[in-house]
Amino acid sequence: MPAGMRIAVLTSGGDAPGMNATLRTLVKVAVARQHEVLGVRDGYLGLMGGDLVPLGLREVDGITRFGGTILGSARALEMHTPEGRGQALRTIAERGIGGLVVVGGNGSLTGAHVLAAETDCRVIGIPASIDNDIGHTASCIGVDTAVNTIVDACDRISDTATAHRRAFVVEVMGRDNGFLAMRAGLAAEADAILYPERRRGPEETVQDLCALLKRSFSPDRGKRRVLIVKSEGYAVKTHALVEQLQAFLRREVPGVDVRETVLGHVVRGGSPAQADRVMAQRFGFGAALALETGATDVMLSWDGPSSIGAATVDPRVRLIPLADVLAETERVRTGESDTIRGRQALLERAEKILAL
Ligand code: F6P
Repeated sequence: MPAGMRIAVLTSGGDAPGMNATLRTLVKVAVARQHEVLGVRDGYLGLMGGDLVPLGLREVDGITRFGGTILGSARALEMHTPEGRGQALRTIAERGIGGLVVVGGNGSLTGAHVLAAETDCRVIGIPASIDNDIGHTASCIGVDTAVNTIVDACDRISDTATAHRRAFVVEVMGRDNGFLAMRAGLAAEADAILYPERRRGPEETVQDLCALLKRSFSPDRGKRRVLIVKSEGYAVKTHALVEQLQAFLRREVPGVDVRETVLGHVVRGGSPAQADRVMAQRFGFGAALALETGATDVMLSWDGPSSIGAATVDPRVRLIPLADVLAETERVRTGESDTIRGRQALLERAEKILAL
């Protein structure tokens, strides 16, 4: 085992609750094993600009409970250019960095893969994206917290909706991927879930929802609340949808209104749930060990497929080549991944039951 390795760590892209837990564990494990850790500020921007600070035990005490990231994050488009990558590689060489840990989503892991090909520095990726849109990992840092936040918000909305006999469309994050809407919608007793993988046009969507509203608020059914959870990435804009539903209600179910709530970045903040803390800690531990074994150009995955990559001492964590991860992430984005097809098939089967 190479003692005294200099490890740099950065958090990049959309922040995710649990990133801090990874930083703390990585530092603690590194200190215990005589390595030095440098924190890179603001993701790849800091790597390109040489903005690195020593991270010791004192800097990471008590940070597990905080959302966001103490290092700061950024979406650094410059990393897509040869100049940007050149600057990042220069920092790695000049600062004598032997291991780089990149905590982030698709864009961040792509950057990690590109850097790994151009440097002897070992590069390890850790999946962090509330959208759960990274291939070959069952979950990412931040997903569980984000789902809990949405469920909590929907429960609150359900209270007021029931009091007033109303429908609500709740928009949640999820650019290309409907996981957050699906998982939280089921847990919050949604009557309908609109997610981008289900490719329905505006007309069909409005038609189905109007039928749902009419049935739900009919004297026979007697519902006092209808909850529609919608991904931001769904083909129909929330406000336009709500206006059409309101017009329908005015005509067909007078006295009942529909309101919209866009949760937006509320979903990305907050203290991480225990599941995210524990997973993030185990990733931090796994990253330190992976660097020691000489692994590079790999991502730590949570409950990933046992047919790809290598096992680690942690039974739930595997090391998967970043090339495989990125190829599967693209299939996740386009909906061609078996994981996405499986999720969609399950939800399609449940759709009619949700709407009862
Ligand atoms: O991190 C993923 C994500 O939260 C997406 O769900 C959302 O579309 C996007 O980030 C928002 O990014 P930004 O904070 O840069 O507006």
